[in-house]
Amino acid sequence: MTKATDSSGIIRLDSRRTSYIIRVGETGHLENLYYGRKLRADSDLNALAQKRVIGIGTGVAYSERKPLVFMDTMCLETSTPGKGDFRTPAVQVEYANGMTTLDFTYRSHRFIEGKPNFPGLIAQSYAKKPSEATTLQFQLLDKTLPIVLTLNYTMFTECDVLVRSCILTNGTKEKIVIRNLASLQLDLPDADWNVVSFDGAWARERSVTRRHLEEGIIELGSTCGVSSAFHNPAVFLERPDCTTSRGECYAFNLVYSGNHREIIEKSPFGLARFQSGINPQDFAWTLESGKEFTTPEAVVTYSATGSNGASTNMHAFVNTHIVRGTWQYRERPVLCNNWEATYFNFSENRILELARAAKDVGVELFVLDDGWFGQRNDDTTSLGDWYVNTKKLTSGITHLSNQIHAMGLMFGIWVEPEMISRRSLLFDSHPDWAVMIPGRDPSVGRNQFILDFTRKDVRDYIVKVMTEVFRLSKADYVKWDMNRIFSDFYSASGIRMGEFFHRYVMGLYDVFSRLVSAFPEILFEGCASGGNRFDLGILCFMPQIWTSDNSDAFSRTVIQGGTSYAYPVSTMGAHVSASPNHQTLRKTDNESRFNVAAFGVLGYEMDLSALNMQQKQAVKEQIAFYKKYRGLLQFGRFYRLSEEGSNRTRWMVANTDFSEMLVLDFQTLNRPNIGPEVLRIPFARPDFDYEFTSRIQKVPIRDFGSLINMVSPVTIKSGGKLRKVIDDNVMLTSSDEHCIVSGDVLAYGGIRLNPQFCGTGFTQDVRVLGDFGSRLYHIVRIKKEVRN
Ligand code: GLA
Repeated sequence: MTKATDSSGIIRLDSRRTSYIIRVGETGHLENLYYGRKLRADSDLNALAQKRVIGIGTGVAYSERKPLVFMDTMCLETSTPGKGDFRTPAVQVEYANGMTTLDFTYRSHRFIEGKPNFPGLIAQSYAKKPSEATTLQFQLLDKTLPIVLTLNYTMFTECDVLVRSCILTNGTKEKIVIRNLASLQLDLPDADWNVVSFDGAWARERSVTRRHLEEGIIELGSTCGVSSAFHNPAVFLERPDCTTSRGECYAFNLVYSGNHREIIEKSPFGLARFQSGINPQDFAWTLESGKEFTTPEAVVTYSATGSNGASTNMHAFVNTHIVRGTWQYRERPVLCNNWEATYFNFSENRILELARAAKDVGVELFVLDDGWFGQRNDDTTSLGDWYVNTKKLTSGITHLSNQIHAMGLMFGIWVEPEMISRRSLLFDSHPDWAVMIPGRDPSVGRNQFILDFTRKDVRDYIVKVMTEVFRLSKADYVKWDMNRIFSDFYSASGIRMGEFFHRYVMGLYDVFSRLVSAFPEILFEGCASGGNRFDLGILCFMPQIWTSDNSDAFSRTVIQGGTSYAYPVSTMGAHVSASPNHQTLRKTDNESRFNVAAFGVLGYEMDLSALNMQQKQAVKEQIAFYKKYRGLLQFGRFYRLSEEGSNRTRWMVANTDFSEMLVLDFQTLNRPNIGPEVLRIPFARPDFDYEFTSRIQKVPIRDFGSLINMVSPVTIKSGGKLRKVIDDNVMLTSSDEHCIVSGDVLAYGGIRLNPQFCGTGFTQDVRVLGDFGSRLYHIVRIKKEVRN
């Protein structure tokens, strides 16, 4: 059963494992009675209702006729100022002379099978079949004015995810101004929660912050025009005893790429309020008589099995109800991107050389990054001039693409269509298309300006130009970049400036939807200086996003680990890049760079043509390994096996019945002589038997430095030619850890891993990890007969 209404005004929406229960209270307000673990269909729910038998000193009672109803102590589905609820309101609308007091009470509700497509939203979740979801729609009416608030709830049954949006309809004769309209409000009856947010900046996106909710308000969000690396729209609320695999938590997200705000509030009465939606800062939406406004969709799930449980729900939701089109659940190609190999400095021949080297090691898609157009030799010029630079690509983009296709590779291209350089032909002809205020000296980011996507003429132009770029380049893949945030908020089109940011996002979605439907086969990857716009809005159009410009393996354990709370592996672009790393200068071994990138959509962003034979062989083996397990890595269930801040990062992907798993064991710093290390897989099925194997990795002999003679069969003089040749070319193979193990031993006891190198000698059975080193383990079910 997924829906029900009973005679006491209680309305419930169930999913496979959760129940959401609302009551139309005695005053007509929608009260949240419960959201959590699924309740029995025959449970008496009245015990969940608040008991109102006493007044509150200094409290505001709802009305003279209702002296015991105090809105401030209620768990409400929506809230307005002026009726005694002094927490953050979900709805702030100005009418007649700036008044904001409104009072929405129940008028009607209905259930709809499936998920309707809400007009007014371009980016939204979907259900392919009506049986996948149930939608509950409430109509609330203000007590005095004909202003209607519609609350939409869609419960996606299998993944236990609830999606909420609101529609405000102005039935008055005058215009009204929406100052704030949260997509979701969830009031919880107590406030003993840890708030988990995903924060950072360029090159350190989405690291996990965890703090206990105390009196007052925690406000997260973005005001820079994009969802941003500062605070992702995803937020978790965890019980203090919640771990990765045990305990209660809620996870929230928003289907939106612009300014967002999340409020987590502990009220004086000990209740918790969560809200998310468009950020009210710089937002004021004028609603003419008869018009309606629809908020973006907010997403929430509940899990009783720790943060991994909530992540599993979110991952299934994103893969099934957000990502769409040709690439949904389709394995993504291994790519090679030329950016960090060449930056702006390349020729046609150099690109072909890189593509050949990529093909040689098993790459499937070659991506030509920034610098192929206009006069673009650095980042000061040419954004907007989307025609090929024939000084670099002498035979043109079509010919280059043909040559790369002829090698048996797919071809991809980088674009940054939302931008304009002052030094460009486009700026010369359309200066008013750039977001800047006439008469004011504009602020600037990466030497560039944003194109005014609130304007239809600008959008039409960009759709036309991009159509031509994709057609001429015969692109199989497009990397859509966005490398600055907003300043000097203004549009020459005359729109009201309180509407600028939201209109920009809607304009962007309009461009995306036109291009994606015109080129359904193209694999689009979103990007914004790495992960500055990693959100569910983008994923409605583009199935994957470049997670961060920082591809240092250690940094990525933090970045991908944080991202994994709300987003599945299939959405995270992850590249193996050079060492020392270009963002951190950290030196890490090539195999560990691969091991971390394998928990993402794999790519290489380094000079593959400069590899020696041994390195090339190692990369070939990495790619072959990735292709063999690609389905599991990209679409398997992802689990964090370690807590943040420990010296180890352990991740796992598993198939649905846990008969096959891949585990990453990454060590931050090498601490010598630490004793036996145990790898326990709590998700292993006790009734299964498994074969456990380590991926064989290459260990460069150079890593042993002056200890080289300890591992070499012959004595080698230091400083000599032979030493150099050996350093450059000789690799050892890592220890081969292999055993047959029963699932109960793996789940309850754990495997003792081979000891790490610790000065006292080297044999084939010693693991050489060092700082930032790692191993990958493959665990697969075997039948008993094989065992005997
Ligand atoms: C951004 C992207 C990079 C690269 C450069 C090119 O920083 O995140 O991956 O494409 O732009 O200018």
